[in-house]
Amino acid sequence: MNELTWVEVSKGAIRNNIRCFREIIGKGKILCPCVKANAYGHGLVETAEVFLDSGADWLAVNAIYEARSLRKNGVDAPIYVLGYVPLDSLEEALRLDCRLVVYNKETVEKLGVIAEKLGKIAKVHLKAETGNNRQGLAEENLLELAKFIKTFKNIEIEGLSTHFANIEDMTDHSYAEVQLAKFVSAINLLEENGINIPIKHCANSAAILLFPETHFQMVRPGIAAYGMWPSNETYLSYARKHENGVGLIPALTWKTKIAQIKKIPQGEFVGYGCTYKTTHDTTLAILPVGYYDGYDRGLKDAYVLIHGKRAYVRGRICMNIIMVDVTDIPEAKIEDDVTLLGKDGDENISAELFAKWAGTINYEATTRINDRIPRIYV
Ligand SMILES: Cc1ncc(COP(=O)(O)O)c(C=O)c1O
Repeated sequence: MNELTWVEVSKGAIRNNIRCFREIIGKGKILCPCVKANAYGHGLVETAEVFLDSGADWLAVNAIYEARSLRKNGVDAPIYVLGYVPLDSLEEALRLDCRLVVYNKETVEKLGVIAEKLGKIAKVHLKAETGNNRQGLAEENLLELAKFIKTFKNIEIEGLSTHFANIEDMTDHSYAEVQLAKFVSAINLLEENGINIPIKHCANSAAILLFPETHFQMVRPGIAAYGMWPSNETYLSYARKHENGVGLIPALTWKTKIAQIKKIPQGEFVGYGCTYKTTHDTTLAILPVGYYDGYDRGLKDAYVLIHGKRAYVRGRICMNIIMVDVTDIPEAKIEDDVTLLGKDGDENISAELFAKWAGTINYEATTRINDRIPRIYV
């Protein structure tokens, strides 16, 4: 590998995770993994292809540029856009055959005009506000928008969705239960008013794993499709209910290689701000990766793996360089592989551990790995 840093993605792990989800939800339901945020850092197009080859039915993206990239690369599966589509992008969205979430009259009006012009049927999904207070509409407004959509002959209401606010942060799921009840109430209200919703969906990873009653006709797993648990709380909640694990396998390993080895005496400062002083004669390995790449400058007590052993980061993380202590790894030499995130021998830097060092969550740890860094599929 002639790159300074790269990400290895295990296709086998992704295939395994999709199989796990299919087993959990059963046949006949739409499995729609989320490939937004560069497929949670795993690489948009190739990961999407592996998902589809492994039995996923649809793909969820956040924005039109992601849908454009998938279509350009020959992906013809249904694409569901989770995020806001600007009015000026609606025509492209329709040309790309995207399913859109709608919660504004302005969007519906413009979509109706464009769909008619293109001779297409725009498939839209309503979004019910059930307690997250980001996208979506409360019941009365939802019904009003649904009735408005019905006045456009080129728009079809294909789905109704909502999103849980507090399903992975706690082992007490009462808030999620209230949200589910509100979702069911929204479904009933629409159906009582003659608005048929073929595809109802609300389940993210935690909901899929913990609550079969959230599966409806489609599920939208993100983090767990990549083999990571949404949180410790979800893991614990699952373990309380089930004797056997799910068998998720993390798919991502992030690597770099040693650029220089240097010996420095005790009492020397390392890096910007002179924040670290060596406590012993030290051998440092200089690594060509930094916060520009997504190796967060705020990481505390972080280490990397070299020859299956821990090498602690010394001094401040720079934009493109970090320094690690290899005093106890005498075999380390220039261009040896270094694992920044993932397994090496018996050691493992999980996304959860990496996230803990950065004071964040596993979602951010993998999505922040710079998109420019090559993804290699193994
Ligand atoms: C609307 C929506 N659905 C599904 C997901 C997937 O969530 P998770 O990664 O927790 O499975 C997300 C992720 O943020 C989302 O925003």
